[in-house]
Amino acid sequence: MCILAPSLLAADFSKLKDEVNILNEAKTPWLHLDIMDYCFVPNLSFGAGIVKSLRPYTQMIFDAHLMVIEPEKYIKDFKNAGADYFTFHLEATDNPQKVIDEIRANGMKVGISIKPKTLVSDLEPYLEYLDLILIMSVEPGFGGQKFMWDMLEKIQWLKAKKQEGYNYLIEIDGGINRETAKAAVKSGAEVLVAGTAVFGATDLGAEVAYYSTLE
Ligand code: DX5
Ligand code: ZN
Repeated sequence: MCILAPSLLAADFSKLKDEVNILNEAKTPWLHLDIMDYCFVPNLSFGAGIVKSLRPYTQMIFDAHLMVIEPEKYIKDFKNAGADYFTFHLEATDNPQKVIDEIRANGMKVGISIKPKTLVSDLEPYLEYLDLILIMSVEPGFGGQKFMWDMLEKIQWLKAKKQEGYNYLIEIDGGINRETAKAAVKSGAEVLVAGTAVFGATDLGAEVAYYSTLE
């Protein structure tokens, strides 16, 4: 069974608490939090303050995806906001190991994400230190884009590598819908991020149930 992580980016920002409650009722296990800085990506979303204000209203695992330069500057605030996973971009730092160690020292689970043009083999030196690897299947920055099918090769590579004894979860983000989700899970994805597909569904509960039972 895979884990669904709806992306709050696709929610109605004028009623975030209500949106979280709807996800609670649908028994959604994770909440994906897209943090953008208008620098690493050409968009701005929300920060640790909003994450902290939602924390008391849900037990969902908070899966923070930091699309920012200098991710190390965000670690303490996200820890204090109640983030469970802190995922930064490999392309956003010259010293990934230092960022990994700092996240770990702050008691959060550690994730690294890569953009579509980055080689998955660039992650090899860090595999043993990671709890999660996030493969972007669209260019980061915006919801509602078209799924890049060739990213599934990266998922397959990570799945094969994992058999060597690594513990990371394999997550995919961007353009996930019922069709692409099926293919992603078949390739080895264990966590599915979905924004538009979940928040745009007429029956959100049914949508959540569909993704959660894929295997
Ligand atoms: C893109 C974000 C994604 C995005 C997913 O930069 O990381 O999480 O919101 O949205 P959909 O599912 O609409 O592609
Ligand atoms: Zn994301």
